[in-house]
Amino acid sequence: MIDTGVAAEGSVDGATTDGDGVDWLTTGSAPPPHRTPGLDAARPNPARIYDYLLGGKDNFAVDRDAGDALIARLPTLPAMTRAVRDFLHRAVRHLVRVRGVRQFLDIGSGLPTACNVHEVALEADPGARVVYVDADPVVAAHSRALLADHPGGSTAFVEADATDPASVLAAPALGATLDLSEPVGLLVVDTLTYFPDPVARDVVATLLAALAPGSYLTISHPTPDFAPEATRRTVAAVERSGLSCTTRTQDEVRALFAGTELVEPGLVPLLSWHPDARDAVVPDPCGVYAWAGVARRR
Ligand SMILES: C[S@@+](CC[C@H](N)C(=O)[O-])C[C@H]1O[C@@H](n2cnc3c(N)ncnc32)[C@H](O)[C@@H]1O
Repeated sequence: MIDTGVAAEGSVDGATTDGDGVDWLTTGSAPPPHRTPGLDAARPNPARIYDYLLGGKDNFAVDRDAGDALIARLPTLPAMTRAVRDFLHRAVRHLVRVRGVRQFLDIGSGLPTACNVHEVALEADPGARVVYVDADPVVAAHSRALLADHPGGSTAFVEADATDPASVLAAPALGATLDLSEPVGLLVVDTLTYFPDPVARDVVATLLAALAPGSYLTISHPTPDFAPEATRRTVAAVERSGLSCTTRTQDEVRALFAGTELVEPGLVPLLSWHPDARDAVVPDPCGVYAWAGVARRR
């Protein structure tokens, strides 16, 4: 459980409960929708909801309520969330072993959980380097604590708002850890959903433009394409929490890959991207409502 000095249980002052048992609606004005709400135990927060869906302990009652409201609409959501993590691991292993990538920039890295990017990358190549970026101060605190156990400059955490990609690129820790004259694997996994257009396109294009030719872009993104009504209900529940949630069609996700060439098998249902035996068991490839792809920067 995270320690912020704020009681985790019953921490919503003066809130009322709506018909879904979700009680964040009357807690005051929301932050701008594409800005992470940060360290506020009275509001649900993307990183902490994600942690809850993954079975983690770094979340507050308000995050668990929000997560439960989503699960009520989409019971397979925890399995889908685990499948996204599995995709992230597959993509990193593929990039290291098949494409020879040794550096990673992970945007919207989330709370540390089992099998983090640097652990997967370092297992595949002990010389790998990883920079995590997240705007959430709780993610920052946990990530820095985790990385303190990994000295040697191979990993770093940058607390920054990715909607200002120039600030990400200017972070001293990024420059000290990654060599931008060499290819980098840019990871934007389940994060662009928090950014509306044209913010999402700008974030990806600006970061990619700063990376060496031969770098790779990895995206997974929620989509309405496979189950429009279930997705619509889930998005409505997310938005009621004051969080932004943009789902994108395959063509809209493809547009985020502008200036790159998708590697095999292309932009596909997430479960169909180089599946391996370690994946969560979800028999229908479209049972996880997300597109996923890896592409080479031209
Ligand atoms: C759904 S989590 C994804 C975590 C991770 N990429 C994964 O696949 O497991 C999205 C993350 O994006 C972060 N995030 C949201 N808006 C952000 C912003 N404007 N700048 C940086 N990070 C942001 C959240 O704090 C959260 O940790």
